[in-house]
Amino acid sequence: MKEREPVSRSGRFEQGPAADVAKFTESISFDWRLWRQDIRGSVAHARMLRKIGVLTAAELSSIEAGLKEIGGEIEKGDFQWKLELEDVHMNIEAELTRRAPAGAKLHTGRSRNDQVALDLRLWLRDEAGCLLEEIRQLQGAMIRLGERHSSVLIPGYTHLQRAQPVHFAHHLLAYVEMLDRDFARVTQALDRNNVCPLGNGALAGSTLPLDRNFVAAELGFVDSRGRPRVTQNSMDGVSDRDFAIEFCAAAALLAVHLSRLAEDLVLWAGTEFDFIRIADAYTTGSSLMPQKKNPDIAELTRGKSGRVIGNLMALLTLLKGLPMTYNRDLQEDKERLFDSMDTVRATTRICAAMLDNTSVKEQNCAKAASDPALLATDLADYLVRKGQPFRQAHHAVGALVAMAEKGSKPLNQLTLAELQSVTPLFAADVLQTFDLAKAMDRRNLTGAPGSREVPRQLARWRKILFPAPKTSTRAKK
Ligand code: ARG
Repeated sequence: MKEREPVSRSGRFEQGPAADVAKFTESISFDWRLWRQDIRGSVAHARMLRKIGVLTAAELSSIEAGLKEIGGEIEKGDFQWKLELEDVHMNIEAELTRRAPAGAKLHTGRSRNDQVALDLRLWLRDEAGCLLEEIRQLQGAMIRLGERHSSVLIPGYTHLQRAQPVHFAHHLLAYVEMLDRDFARVTQALDRNNVCPLGNGALAGSTLPLDRNFVAAELGFVDSRGRPRVTQNSMDGVSDRDFAIEFCAAAALLAVHLSRLAEDLVLWAGTEFDFIRIADAYTTGSSLMPQKKNPDIAELTRGKSGRVIGNLMALLTLLKGLPMTYNRDLQEDKERLFDSMDTVRATTRICAAMLDNTSVKEQNCAKAASDPALLATDLADYLVRKGQPFRQAHHAVGALVAMAEKGSKPLNQLTLAELQSVTPLFAADVLQTFDLAKAMDRRNLTGAPGSREVPRQLARWRKILFPAPKTSTRAKK
């Protein structure tokens, strides 16, 4: 075998691939990112090979030392990746073998097919773990913003028409809940991801007595009781990418939630709403119009959801027509997975920073929330309390809204006589209905935007997101 010749081509081929073929088929330009996982997987595999007697102790230590050295060089940016070696797996293995002859034994009982499945699962676990942390940070930024303006009311909207008053914090808490389900979805996807595919070989396992459980335990593929989890069908283990798709689906939903948040922020930052001020550092100007201050982070958050949704579609399409088992098509999985991960992680982080640098224009919010039409439903509820069936109450208040509109006055300026002209159930106490503070005191069902429930929810989330540091009451012995 000529030195540096692609490891897997030796023997069978008289020639290396044509230059344009190598360029077309390579994946090193993007899968180099898997180097940490590839090395970690190789170390575990080598330890297992030692355990079953394929490697001597000396061979194992030369492999471990070589891989460690290579890892250090990659980390420093000193490693020379070679396109003709196709991918991260062959680049690392070839360089290892050049340094330590025992490297030629490393691929015993292993194929790149189970190797790449392993690397991807490890990578997903590592990266998604960071994403989970970032989701919590974003929820935290929302809680902080809500707490900074805890008494602010805004109109809640349906059909983008003013509907009923809500606390500004209540609106944010809606996103905190959405993000919590995103958190759970990623967590659940990670649980199914956490099964070790190594030992499946190319597609049919190995004739050698590999210890799959040892490798799984070594790499943290264990259940809640510490028992190793390995894939139970070799063909499934090398060819399915459902773990990547599941993550990309969770990421797409997260991106959609962030996109909705972004749309709200874009609206609120605009002159028509003018509810918030995003700090200069988190906005951009216009090259032509000197007055402009644009919410570009929010717009890009909205825009980037498109690629995350697209990545999910690409992966589903990639997989749907593949015959068993591994096909080279699967190499196309990585960039989609990487892009979804990179995009949602960066977006989640920047949104948290932006919210920490956003303030609420409380007077503008108060003005919008003081629109008495927002309390038309409360007026109907008043009649319900007086015994009127809701359908009739709804009709009566509708008539009052029309009357106010005709008289060009706000709903709360109708006289008692005018109110009573629609139904005699109205009494003098009706005017209290338009007291906004009292109206918010009346909305305290679980999950409602009322003046007791919203602080309760903020406090509930504060406890979850910012648990008090555990202080030991007992002195350490
Ligand atoms: N670079 C390949 C991929 O990402 C690794 C597996 C290649 N296996 C093979 N039999 N050609 O899918």
